[in-house]
Amino acid sequence: MKYEKSASLLERAKESLAGGVSSEFRKNSYPHALFYSSASGSHITDVDGNEYLDFTLSQGPLILGHSHPHVLKRVGDYSKSGQLFAGQHMLEIELAEKLKQLIPSAELVRFCLDGSEAVQTALRVARAKTGKQKFLRFEGHYHGWLDNVAWGISAPSVADLGSRDHPDVFAWGQGLAETTKAESFILPWNDLELAKRLLQNSHQEIAAIITEPIMCNNGCIQPQPGFLKGLRELCDQYGITLIFDEVITGFRTGLGGAQKLFGVTPDLSIFAKALASGYPISAIVGKKDWMDMLADGRVIQAGTMNSSNPTIAAALATIEVLERENPYSRMYELGLKLMGGIRALALKHDINLCVQGLGPMLHTGFTDLEEIKDYRDTLLFDKTKLGKFIAALHNKGIRVIGRGLWYISASHTQKDIDETLAVVDQVLAELTEKAKKTITI
Ligand SMILES: Cc1ncc(COP(=O)(O)O)c(C=O)c1O
Repeated sequence: MKYEKSASLLERAKESLAGGVSSEFRKNSYPHALFYSSASGSHITDVDGNEYLDFTLSQGPLILGHSHPHVLKRVGDYSKSGQLFAGQHMLEIELAEKLKQLIPSAELVRFCLDGSEAVQTALRVARAKTGKQKFLRFEGHYHGWLDNVAWGISAPSVADLGSRDHPDVFAWGQGLAETTKAESFILPWNDLELAKRLLQNSHQEIAAIITEPIMCNNGCIQPQPGFLKGLRELCDQYGITLIFDEVITGFRTGLGGAQKLFGVTPDLSIFAKALASGYPISAIVGKKDWMDMLADGRVIQAGTMNSSNPTIAAALATIEVLERENPYSRMYELGLKLMGGIRALALKHDINLCVQGLGPMLHTGFTDLEEIKDYRDTLLFDKTKLGKFIAALHNKGIRVIGRGLWYISASHTQKDIDETLAVVDQVLAELTEKAKKTITI
């Protein structure tokens, strides 16, 4: 692979775009932020003409793969009637009705632009509903980039995190308002006893518990049996709002989100990424008692760009295809095959590669642990080895998210998985060979 054109465009971009990018995460690409020229199905091509089998799917949204013809057509057709009315339109109701039909907790819906602001809306509603101010969140869970959720998602090491019941939290970068640190309590995830103990003492202060139902932003970790149900019971017991952040799991784990998969119904939840195949829309959905706070204007949520024609059409088109083709069982099957294949190759090459996930999303990390149960475990990953693995895959045309997360789309095929496993085989052989040479020297 050669990256000359991208490298030179990046230098040019840096003169006018801060850091050459429009989102911090895009810097973390191999060998640097790249420029792409086209994408279709499971493949994407960069400006140097390198083609990749894409498992990043633009950080998750592209559940149908790139440039799905039905989505593009629906967006194009509907945009011809206008792009943004700053008023209501027919498809907006249709989309809200569809979400009500599919998502267990959705009795009312409000649309906004992205996951970050929908999370803030949910927290605002929870505060108004309960009359309390703080919220409980979990180490390593990502709920967007805004100040009050940008604590506790990055730590130098496990030792720096301190005790499990009173973790030390770190700011994610500079410039956060110090006051926002005190808005939340933070605990390790998947430990119901810790949550119980905290709530016994502090429930009078806590308006909401917010959680990713599957922790996808650090590893790909499923909830321990009974954990989500336990949170639900605690919320009921103490008058606390349960918020599921389904920005990743929504429309990825199935049409009803992780709440349907696990049979636990939150009071409010956030859907974004896979909802609309990459168009900027998110939805806050929830039970009527909560959403009525928005309905009657006691809680304010607004946005000039909300529910524009292209975004609503994209969401409806995406759901239409998902309902018509029901690709989920195939996506799970392909993902599980990929996971099983990588595990078998790790054994073959005697390398400590831990593979975890559900199928539609999975994670690869180098560690001696057999299972990753929470954020603290993910801090033990060998990041240098992962970097080499991801870089080597990339150089052979397999594009994976830098932190080791892989997404499968409805457009991935068995052939894609076979090709990928053949490349993983080569890459692991090279990595272990290099390691042996280093030891011999
Ligand atoms: C679970 C979760 N919540 C919230 C967000 C923020 O969403 P957005 O990037 O659309 O603001 C993300 C983004 O990756 C996410 O993964």
